[in-house]
Amino acid sequence: MELTTEIKIRKTSHSRIREVDFANLQFGKHISDHMLICDYYDGEWHEPLIVPFANLSLSPATMAFHYGQTVFEGMKAFLTEDGRVNIFRIDKHYDRFVRSLERMCMAVVPKEIFVEGLRTLVALDKSWIPRQPDCALYIRPFVIATEKGFGVKVSSEYRFIIFTSPVPSVYSKAITLKVETEFIRAARGGTGFAKCGGNYGGAFYPTLLARQQGYDQVIWTDAVQNKFIEESGMMNIMFVIGDTIITPPLSDTILDGVTRDSLLTIARTLGVKTEERPVSVVELEKAFRDNTIVEAFGVGTAAVIAPVKTINIYDTDFHLPEYSHENLSHKLKQKLERIRTGKEEDLYNWSHVV
Ligand code: COI
Repeated sequence: MELTTEIKIRKTSHSRIREVDFANLQFGKHISDHMLICDYYDGEWHEPLIVPFANLSLSPATMAFHYGQTVFEGMKAFLTEDGRVNIFRIDKHYDRFVRSLERMCMAVVPKEIFVEGLRTLVALDKSWIPRQPDCALYIRPFVIATEKGFGVKVSSEYRFIIFTSPVPSVYSKAITLKVETEFIRAARGGTGFAKCGGNYGGAFYPTLLARQQGYDQVIWTDAVQNKFIEESGMMNIMFVIGDTIITPPLSDTILDGVTRDSLLTIARTLGVKTEERPVSVVELEKAFRDNTIVEAFGVGTAAVIAPVKTINIYDTDFHLPEYSHENLSHKLKQKLERIRTGKEEDLYNWSHVV
């Protein structure tokens, strides 16, 4: 469908914003007042509508509950210095959303509905955007298969929803990681590059085991030999070895992280050397033994940059120097935040100001 008029809004009569303690936000806890809903049936997307955030009523036979046709995005909006709203890298998120939906055989949301839906929803709930440092309005667009019936097939009906939530970054302190060599996250030809729910659900069990051993997250290795590093938990991972940022290259097993791309781009602009290439567990271990590794950090929309303090490799804990404002990752994060909040010029056309 084409959007011919403005998206219709049914406003809440009772805002919940007073229930939120913006000085003590928790990731995923509070949802803003409104959500966008748009349905696909009879082969097309229908008119989107913004309504008060509320529960859904769905048949237990709804396909999304059974065969995993669910895809989501994770984005952020910021308040700029002059009080405007900046939705960060809307185009790159949309492109990845399309790739995920296609991989899962799901109806692709038209760009106009995605962009206008985000713009209208975020502008409506602008007062939910936190002003505290390191906080943002997290945006969760997602699609679920809504055909009723449990026959094992591609759904012919879908629902697109967007809701938003004021969040801090996921990790408030440096994290500990364990290189995982038994379980895998993604295999060649699979869905690792897609943001489908199953990738996250499948990661819970190995992560739970790592937590029981005292680590915050795992570092995933490749599915064939468990020799090459892929991602960490729900983030991409970067190492600073010598004076170079090194990160595994994108592939069909690695998510094309928007923060990953943004930080590599900023680093290159600053003249920092970057390498996107396979990193073996053996190389990482040697870098610790030779004292050439100076930083490691997870990167993602929710986490922004999560500094790492310890990595367990083949049952040995290796420690990184304490995180400080001198770290390259800190400087990159500061630069990214300044661009997103309009304090610094956006040389890259990443800002979508509403
Ligand atoms: C993100 O970083 O935005 C993610 O999607 C990870 C997680 C919150 C599921």
